[in-house]
Amino acid sequence: MRISIFGLGYVGAVSLACLARDGHDVIGVDVDASKLTMLREGTTPVVEEGMVDLVRQVVASGKVRVTDDVRDAIHGSDVSLICVGTPSAPNGSQDQSAVLRLSADIGRALVDKTEPHVLVFRSTLAPGTVEKVIKPILERESDKPEGKGFHLCFQPEFLREGTSIRDYDKPPFTIIGASDPHPVGVLRQLFGHLPCDFIETSIGTAEMMKYCCNNFHALKITFANETARLCDALGVDAFEVMRLVCQDKQLNISPAYLKPGFAFGGSCLPKDLRATNYLARTHDVELPMLGAILESNRLHLNHAIDKVLATGARRVAMIGLSFKTGTDDLRESPLVVLAEALIGKGVKLSIFDPDVSLARLLGSNKRFIEERLPHIGELIANDLPTALSEAELVIVGTTSAAVLDALAADLQAQQKMLDLVNVPNGRFDGRQIEGLCW
Ligand SMILES: NC(=O)c1ccc[n+]([C@@H]2O[C@H](COP(=O)([O-])OP(=O)(O)OC[C@H]3O[C@@H](n4cnc5c(N)ncnc54)[C@H](O)[C@@H]3O)[C@@H](O)[C@H]2O)c1
Repeated sequence: MRISIFGLGYVGAVSLACLARDGHDVIGVDVDASKLTMLREGTTPVVEEGMVDLVRQVVASGKVRVTDDVRDAIHGSDVSLICVGTPSAPNGSQDQSAVLRLSADIGRALVDKTEPHVLVFRSTLAPGTVEKVIKPILERESDKPEGKGFHLCFQPEFLREGTSIRDYDKPPFTIIGASDPHPVGVLRQLFGHLPCDFIETSIGTAEMMKYCCNNFHALKITFANETARLCDALGVDAFEVMRLVCQDKQLNISPAYLKPGFAFGGSCLPKDLRATNYLARTHDVELPMLGAILESNRLHLNHAIDKVLATGARRVAMIGLSFKTGTDDLRESPLVVLAEALIGKGVKLSIFDPDVSLARLLGSNKRFIEERLPHIGELIANDLPTALSEAELVIVGTTSAAVLDALAADLQAQQKMLDLVNVPNGRFDGRQIEGLCW
């Protein structure tokens, strides 16, 4: 394939070398003349394991040429990978000046190109940039609509500096964000042989998931480091602790707890976080990330309160009350806190949770609910139809299949729903259902 690569930094230079190695004809483009000179001479512009030999080899093979002429590169290739830098601006926003200027140059170069051209954005871009900012620039400058003359897609790059050739050859996956099958087919020819899943998604998802991956990596590093500072103060071996934490592949290093939903609660997480933060304070250890979790959880709960109140409903049914479906544990259940807040706002609430029988509650569980919802007996309905009978809005806080099936059958057309648990698709099709933050 004839490929042009714009931006010959870590991402672009490694892609150029690997694609030329794989037999493609590659044109490298950069505004930095010194990088072009180095490549012309067969020298790598970035320090990376394996790049010295690979660049020498691919330049000698005649598969690589470099230029600073955008038009030359666009007309001499069928596919372009855009890998220019998108650094932080002083206010923390993404500085997109290089990618936007380049998009305008590419648009102008496309004016008199007759064969269709595929533009693959590989620079990390804030969600929405490709479709809402770059596409209008390209359409304006080329005087062509997307799909006629050029195709756009976004392919996040997952290589890590230091191991970038190895990561190029074995990425965690290939993600292609596109709104049209043509660029996906082209990229399958370029990257479909790699030993990983090839996944098609929307452009917005592909842009966001790149941010999400980097945020998750930063979160994991900070978690390990905050844990280590506390361990150090307590005289505990942080490496041993984290090694054992990582050994749990069921709950810790797994998809568990990584699905959007309602706030967490229950008898363990909040109290143990509070105790961890207290322990840190008493040892003069600052843990800003662990210290912020309960506050973030509180804001998530407030979001649900705001959503309910914004509907204007004065009679609300809450389906589910315990902190997790399948238990009657009400201690620190976020649904109890939600119920408390709504009652405080004058909402007439009826609650149904088949797992919660007031007569059977004991000990600290009983004490908790009596303190938080003293009139709980008047709020609890014995069956679903009773709970629903007067409700304008139904809050879905349970994942019980039996309860959801019954709800789908008993719900009336005018009753709205607020979904806190991401109920599986299909059951409430055609109903007035809104997700908490989805
Ligand atoms: N470095 C990484 O490990 C990594 C990994 C994944 C994703 N990314 C993302 O990929 C993008 C590139 O990162 P990088 O580290 O390779 O950046 P870099 O700063 O090393 O290289 C960017 C290159 O783009 C060139 N450039 C700027 N404007 C240009 C223009 N108009 N035309 C042609 N070239 C131009 C610059 O001269 C520079 O050589 C960024 O968005 C980054 O967030 C980087």
